[in-house]
Amino acid sequence: MCGIVGVTCLQGKLSSPAKIIRKCLEKLEYRGYDSVGLASIFKGMIVVRKGKGKIEEVHRRMNFDGVPGNTVIGHTRWATHGAPSDNNAHPHIDCGRIVAIVHNGIIKNYMELKKKLIAKGHIFRSETDTEVVAHLIEEYLNKGFKPYEAFKKAISHVKGSYAIAAIIISEPNTIFFAKKDSPLIIGIGDGFNFIASDIPAFLEHTRRIVVVKDFEVGYITPTNVFIENLHTGKIVDLSKRLRFISWTAEMAAKAGYPHYMLKEIHEQPRALRETINGLGEEIEQAANMIINARRVFITAAGTSFHAGLVLDYYLNSIAGIATIPLIASEYSKYVRSVKHGDLLIAISQSGETIDTLMAVREFKKRGAKILAISNVIDSAIPRESDLTVYTRAGPEIGVAATKTFTTQVLVELATVLKAAELNNSLDVSEIADLRKQLEKTPKIVEKTIMKHEAFVNSIAEIVHRKNSMYYLGRGLGVPIAMEGALKLKEIAYIHAEAYPAGESKHGPIALVEKDFPVLFIVLDDENSENILGNVTEMKARNALTIGLIPEHFEEFKEVLDHSIKIPLHDHLISPMTYTPILQLLAYYSAVKRGYDPDKPRNLAKTVTVE
Ligand code: AGP
Repeated sequence: MCGIVGVTCLQGKLSSPAKIIRKCLEKLEYRGYDSVGLASIFKGMIVVRKGKGKIEEVHRRMNFDGVPGNTVIGHTRWATHGAPSDNNAHPHIDCGRIVAIVHNGIIKNYMELKKKLIAKGHIFRSETDTEVVAHLIEEYLNKGFKPYEAFKKAISHVKGSYAIAAIIISEPNTIFFAKKDSPLIIGIGDGFNFIASDIPAFLEHTRRIVVVKDFEVGYITPTNVFIENLHTGKIVDLSKRLRFISWTAEMAAKAGYPHYMLKEIHEQPRALRETINGLGEEIEQAANMIINARRVFITAAGTSFHAGLVLDYYLNSIAGIATIPLIASEYSKYVRSVKHGDLLIAISQSGETIDTLMAVREFKKRGAKILAISNVIDSAIPRESDLTVYTRAGPEIGVAATKTFTTQVLVELATVLKAAELNNSLDVSEIADLRKQLEKTPKIVEKTIMKHEAFVNSIAEIVHRKNSMYYLGRGLGVPIAMEGALKLKEIAYIHAEAYPAGESKHGPIALVEKDFPVLFIVLDDENSENILGNVTEMKARNALTIGLIPEHFEEFKEVLDHSIKIPLHDHLISPMTYTPILQLLAYYSAVKRGYDPDKPRNLAKTVTVE
């Protein structure tokens, strides 16, 4: 998973295109950051500067801003083929230095292509899959094909996933591009055009975008955008694809917070409000798909899977609809039983997670309808779905999902309430009351964060010194506990395990000794008495007990070492009101351990390789 970006502009239209590209790459660093590079065309030559390391480090060594030329491409890498190194950094060039390319994705047939090219005398400088494309383009240029034709011919050999941008010295004002499975967006300016993996890269320069779709290929010049289908040659009518993105540049910046993650935790009230405002007729369409389905499957990965477990709870307990939740990478167990009339609900904030995309394709092949929940317009999974309900969380730059989780839960509850209305599984007054609570959720979340952030920071003072921790809940508290545990693992690198509190006596409690931290999610629901028993049994073993509890649950005070009181509300909105507290706990624990919460080790924001 990498970030690519390119710009081509009229002379003088943009001051220092290379510096602009470097800054665009900084906004894409969350997509991968083990090596980075830029290439441009200047006076008939390809100029390349690249190296291993983060942008800031390599820029200091190589002075990216000094790259000359008005047509520049850039790349920040997340290694998939070939370890992070100077040679494996993108851009990659051909033998004759007439082509430079950057790529996000995986070329599955690169070894076969590489062998053929070596047999023709091509010399490779890197271990990457990407480099084969540069030599393929060179091969066709040397056969006399014009640049764009040579580019298309080269792409037609490529199998796998790709978002590619290429420059060719004989067309100095043009960036060629092609897309399959990996995201690619065009930013349309006045006298300049951008191409990038993600919108925040160029947002401060333009908000007019065109999302490139699978098997589309084309080029941008400073004043023109051309897109066609690689296989059919059908030219794309840009007027139908132009979108205006309301995200402002500062939304994608840190807005004064030390880290994107903290900004995005605090953004949740706004993200929830925007998502509520954005709910439209797709909610009823989605509800109808659900109540008319033969069976309802739910699939996702990571945090989105936890949102899927919340949806599983909602559909069963509110709408009386049985569901089958499955982790996306485990879809193969189910495919044989899938039939026409089944529905797969695919949840993915990026809309690009390859595990979830593969599950969608397999279920679709077997006749299932696909309902997607995503945060990114026209991303891969929505494009392959029958219907998408979009969250409107805005760009989420921090690798750890925060506002995209709570907004996923919001659209889920809105959809399930509609389903309950359509199948009469809940009476009208209950539905009306829950909708009122939903409307109030952004305010409740805002109050909870404001009220408890300092106290959570003080609890992080204890937690950050621990090596292991339990998160326990019952009912809807279980997916909330799972999400809290994932957060602590992925940004504070503290082992954390979540499971149903009732399971403790079936084994896990053996691990508990003095001061072992156990965090309880206590909801205002039918489980509160039993979970009080669970807290007591942990306290009896001198565990360090921390509880997120409804503010009127006085009886827990004696058995909790630390309690965080959440304002009173229906337990069904708890995933949106409790989870921000767990996000803050993980965030402050990570910072106290000296880690960068925005760039956790070994992780990338979107997993686009299986
Ligand atoms: C969550 O904090 C992680 N970043 C990760 O588990 C993420 O939720 C998962 O990769 C799914 O991503 P998606 O929602 O974009 O599909």
